[in-house]
Amino acid sequence: MNLAQEIARRRTFAIISHPDAGKTTLTEKLLLYGGAIHLAGSVKARKTARHAVSDWMEIEKQRGISVTSSVLQFDYDGHHVNILDTPGHQDFSEDTYRTLMAADSAVMLIDVAKGVEAQTEKLFRVCSDRGIPIFTFVNKIDHFGRNPFDLMEEIENMLGIRACPMNWPVGINGNYQGIYERDTGMIHLFAKAGDHGQKKLAVMSGRPDDASIREQLGEEVIRQLQDDIELLDIAGDSFDAEKVAHGQLTPMYFGSAMTNFGVQPFLESFLTLAPAPAARQAAEGIVEPDSDAFSAFVFKIQANMDPKHHDRIVFMRICSGAFTKGMSVVHRQSGKTIRLAQPQQFLATERTIIDTAFPGDIIGVFDPGTMGVGDTLCDAKNLVTFADFPVFPPELFARVTPKDSMKRKQFLKGMNQLAQEGAIQVYTQGEGRESFIIGAVGRLQWEVLEYRLQNEYNVTVELTPLPYSVARWVLDARPADLTGLGTSLIIYDSRQRPVILLANDWQANWLVERNPNVTFVASPPLTVDTPAAP
Ligand code: G4P
Repeated sequence: MNLAQEIARRRTFAIISHPDAGKTTLTEKLLLYGGAIHLAGSVKARKTARHAVSDWMEIEKQRGISVTSSVLQFDYDGHHVNILDTPGHQDFSEDTYRTLMAADSAVMLIDVAKGVEAQTEKLFRVCSDRGIPIFTFVNKIDHFGRNPFDLMEEIENMLGIRACPMNWPVGINGNYQGIYERDTGMIHLFAKAGDHGQKKLAVMSGRPDDASIREQLGEEVIRQLQDDIELLDIAGDSFDAEKVAHGQLTPMYFGSAMTNFGVQPFLESFLTLAPAPAARQAAEGIVEPDSDAFSAFVFKIQANMDPKHHDRIVFMRICSGAFTKGMSVVHRQSGKTIRLAQPQQFLATERTIIDTAFPGDIIGVFDPGTMGVGDTLCDAKNLVTFADFPVFPPELFARVTPKDSMKRKQFLKGMNQLAQEGAIQVYTQGEGRESFIIGAVGRLQWEVLEYRLQNEYNVTVELTPLPYSVARWVLDARPADLTGLGTSLIIYDSRQRPVILLANDWQANWLVERNPNVTFVASPPLTVDTPAAP
């Protein structure tokens, strides 16, 4: 197979949802149908085990899951599928944003009884801001659910995207018994198995006018279905690949991940309609996936996957060119040439060493500490930098000190590694930069920091929250030359750039007004073309 064919058969996507909508269950069922696992329950079992333990352990277990399943990959019907695992916790995290950067499309999972929930909406916005196509799977139709027209309207009103149902639930007043496929005109009825769909499902199928189907469903249900479909055909949006590609239309599917109902038809339709890896914007111009030159960016780093070995795995998404094991590439941010030895791919619970990979694929490589989240790797003959990686304005700040001053060395090591991993933003303060301040988007990041410093570096820290919620980077002045600093705090980021911490937006605006000739920015500026300060 040549490069273009390898690209054309790849589908790299993330599932976005509010907790409990069924993401773990759906992921697992996709793996089941993809042949990657043979009995559903392994991903789920680990997740259920998590519920039984304490909060701290929960973070760790959650990491455990996202570690082994950072990306799940399988082949189906000629397609090569990469499912990116987004962290499932309630707290909105930078990690999720970054993972979505590596996706070419997203599956938005909605609970049929609950509709669009808070987290669904936030994640939807991230995807739609990036312009990636979104497919909707309405889950749990084996249970009582809301009227499908209401759900369509909710998606359109809350998310501003039109919905095009590809199938339709069969049943009255939320008591669903199956689905009707709009393109084939077939009805599939579910047989409730009661084993949480551990194995693939046998379904009864037929046309609405088949005697067996009519007998099973009854005249009233058939009439309701015919009315609904007529209304959809007349008043609904028809499928339009262009609109899907531009994020204006979401193909909508109904099903039940737990009972496997509708999972396989969804998978098949999704794989046909979802986009293959496309061109990506780099600072130097557009990078076409079928270019001969390899390029990739790091979207996730996982240190200490095996606490005994202190290993550090860097996950990168390939954007162009073919990857071969042991190839040498340029790390743009340091200018160093790096040999990508022992590349790994992750399949359900195992990792395997791979020889080749193509655009859309995610590979993990061991790295001693050179690469950071957002960094680009590329062919020496064609230097590119993926510069639009999101960096978030931190909103929560705290001073961090090790409780045991003898442990300062481990403390510094831990802070540096976790900062590079993107787990937290680390700043320094004071003449000798002796004091550490962390910045985060959500409070969970603090908890993870404390927990990981304790568990991976054996350092107990004290976190003292600071009364600031806004940061401003100063680009072209020394802090000492600024006026209107008031009660703000001057700190330095990892590249030694000054940052002013302020209590609120009002104070930030005041500072900007008082210093009209100075450039202030709200999030850390990317310095892609200049290597990081040593
Ligand atoms: P999440 O990853 O999005 O948080 O959701 P998860 O898959 O863990 O599913 C959340 C709950 O919803 C689970 O129930 C799961 O069994 C249930 N669920 C998922 N898909 C379906 C479906 O199609 N129909 C129905 N009726 N339920 C579904 P739980 O009570 O938390 O766990 P368990 O007792 O089932 O193990």
